Amino acid sequence: MSSFSSPILCNLPRITIIGAGRVGSTLTQRIAEKNLADVVLLDIVEGMPQGLALDLIEARGIELHNRQIIGTNNYADTSGSQIVVITAGIPRKPGMSRDDLLKTNAKIVVEAAKKAIAYSPNAIFIIVTNPLDVMTYLAWQATGLPRDRIMGMAGVLDSARFETFIALELGVLPADVKAMVLGSHGDLMVPLSRYATVNGIPITELLNAATIERLVERTRNGGAEIVELMQTGGAFFAPASATSVMVESILLNQSRLLPVAAYLQGEYELEDIVIGVPCRLGCGGIESVLELNLTDDEKAALRTSAQSVRKNIDRAQEILASISLT
Ligand code: NAI
Ligand code: 2OP
Repeated sequence: MSSFSSPILCNLPRITIIGAGRVGSTLTQRIAEKNLADVVLLDIVEGMPQGLALDLIEARGIELHNRQIIGTNNYADTSGSQIVVITAGIPRKPGMSRDDLLKTNAKIVVEAAKKAIAYSPNAIFIIVTNPLDVMTYLAWQATGLPRDRIMGMAGVLDSARFETFIALELGVLPADVKAMVLGSHGDLMVPLSRYATVNGIPITELLNAATIERLVERTRNGGAEIVELMQTGGAFFAPASATSVMVESILLNQSRLLPVAAYLQGEYELEDIVIGVPCRLGCGGIESVLELNLTDDEKAALRTSAQSVRKNIDRAQEILASISLT
């Protein structure tokens, strides 16, 4: 009987996902099934990420991929990751104030970012935890990373929602619709209707102003609409897809132009703030920020969005200063 020698250990790309909840576990599945990278899935709950990893591994033969998936509670297992995604945290629950959410998630994200960077000093970080722009800012501070290597995911999701609603309204293929949503992730996001097209045709030629405004409002309310329907939590399929697009553009050096929550240093006349703007994403992370020629109204909307993020960053920093972090 012939025997096989041990498999050669190759240096395959490795991604760490912190938070094995609905977004984190679905993202793990997307990355593995797209054959993009091996995934280390980390959570604070013992046994849970290990169980999810085993479940996903048992599907490998059916889904026809051979990516490693490691479930763990130990940061040492995340060592040498090219990308770290942070989805750890809690969604806002009934009766919970914004301050409560800010307090809980700020502590979780700052601790996770510090621990992860210690084991993967060369990684690019993508933050998903809400409130997104504030958490990305805090993680940037906590890691000390240059701004091209840390970013937040929200704009790809918000744009996908806007594109979906336009496609549903017109009865066209969603992939034929292109739109961009800038600004913070929340009520004050800035969907740029002027730039939305169906295969190059501006939607302003296909839909009247009142209809476009209705779709913009639905986009702004996109996360809440799903929470209201589900009652037991928020969206996770589309958020995982949106994050996987960013991961893919970085890992495969695709240089896609995507709306990403980035640290700004004067772009759009905004300074020392994280907010959604169009960025080119490649193997170095954020390769450049594209400055669009916005109208006065669009600029004002972006400024208002940034002011609200700034207020919450200040509040989060006060909260963090009053609690001790491990
Ligand atoms: P979830 O509750 O299903 O999962 C969160 C996971 O984080 C849980 O498994 C929990 O055990 C884990 N966790 C908590 N503290 C931890 C710690 N210290 N270390 C490691 N893991 C820890 O929540 P879900 O639905 O996955 O959402 C995760 C976050 O992402 C929420 O803050 C949510 O609001 C946000 N989100 C953001 C989106 C965006 O567009 N930026 C879209 C969807 C969700
Ligand atoms: C969403 O937009 C709640 O951020 C989450 O679905």
